[in-house]
Amino acid sequence: MYITSGIMYQRFSSQIVRKCRLLPVLCYSTTSLDRKASVSLVQGASRGIGLEFVRQLLERDKKGQVLATCRDPDQSTGLQELKNQYSGRFDVLKLDVTVESTIEAAATFVRETYGYLNLLVNTSGILSIPNLLLPETTLAKVQKSSLLLSYEVNAVGPLLMIKHMWPLLKAGGGTGTKRDVAVVASLSARVGSIGDNNLGGWHSYRASKAALNQLTKTVSVELARKKDPIICLLLHPGTVDTDLSQPFQRNIPKDKLFTKEFSVNKLLDIIDGSKIHDNGKFFAWDGQEIPW
Ligand SMILES: NC(=O)c1ccc[n+]([C@@H]2O[C@H](COP(=O)([O-])OP(=O)(O)OC[C@H]3O[C@@H](n4cnc5c(N)ncnc54)[C@H](OP(=O)(O)O)[C@@H]3O)[C@@H](O)[C@H]2O)c1
Repeated sequence: MYITSGIMYQRFSSQIVRKCRLLPVLCYSTTSLDRKASVSLVQGASRGIGLEFVRQLLERDKKGQVLATCRDPDQSTGLQELKNQYSGRFDVLKLDVTVESTIEAAATFVRETYGYLNLLVNTSGILSIPNLLLPETTLAKVQKSSLLLSYEVNAVGPLLMIKHMWPLLKAGGGTGTKRDVAVVASLSARVGSIGDNNLGGWHSYRASKAALNQLTKTVSVELARKKDPIICLLLHPGTVDTDLSQPFQRNIPKDKLFTKEFSVNKLLDIIDGSKIHDNGKFFAWDGQEIPW
């Protein structure tokens, strides 16, 4: 094991593996640094839409660096597979959006490893967790703990990510495109739209996504004043076949249930085609703007 520029290295499975010294964060990095490459960070990448973002980013930009973060890298077989396939330009870092010190440590890792970030994708989100978070069908089922947990993971976490990554965001990069803005894309949901709420229910999830929308819109106003152009987008992926939607898929017509591959491809097209005037907008997977 040896130490350079504040980062510990050690041999791991016949590869040089970098271990961030900032506890409690643990990361495995096999990156060989190319200072001209685009750098993308996907937060909430263990599975579902986040994992698919990582896969498609690595495929779209053959020279791009991708950093995936999740709560438990060792448990994500999807990330392990990608690590084997793309070692050299793919890093995995432990990050829980409810623990701010792990976000701070991730920002330090980005600064020390790449020096900048061109794209931040916030994907982590919770709708239901057995015995802990039950989506409400009526006011009588609303629980303070569900409201607070949803707010913490779905709204506060992504905002803290933006707070700590902001100084590192820099225009350029782009997954094989000429994107001239740095992008923060946070996965919201159409049910977070107050104007579009005709069905009620899901109080915690709806309110937390509405809060994410408001917090992101607020940040977008401040970002507009920064010299280097950075924009924030809120994205609705459609109803996508993942663990999150699985318990609620029964009444969804087959053609309205998207694959992760389809949805993420559409969302990356929106990200790559985004311009400075898109800052603070809320888009659905098909590029249509969603009312607040
Ligand atoms: N699927 C849909 O139909 C749909 C529709 C509209 C919006 N969305 C939004 O799209 C995003 C992705 O959803 P998905 O369908 O891919 O859900 P998913 O398959 O359930 O994945 C959720 C992800 O969030 C992560 N996560 C949960 N709590 C976290 C925390 N405290 N810190 C860090 N990561 C955490 C999970 O990590 P672990 O593996 O560690 O639990 C997992 O990677 C969410 O924001 C969701 O609200 C999804």
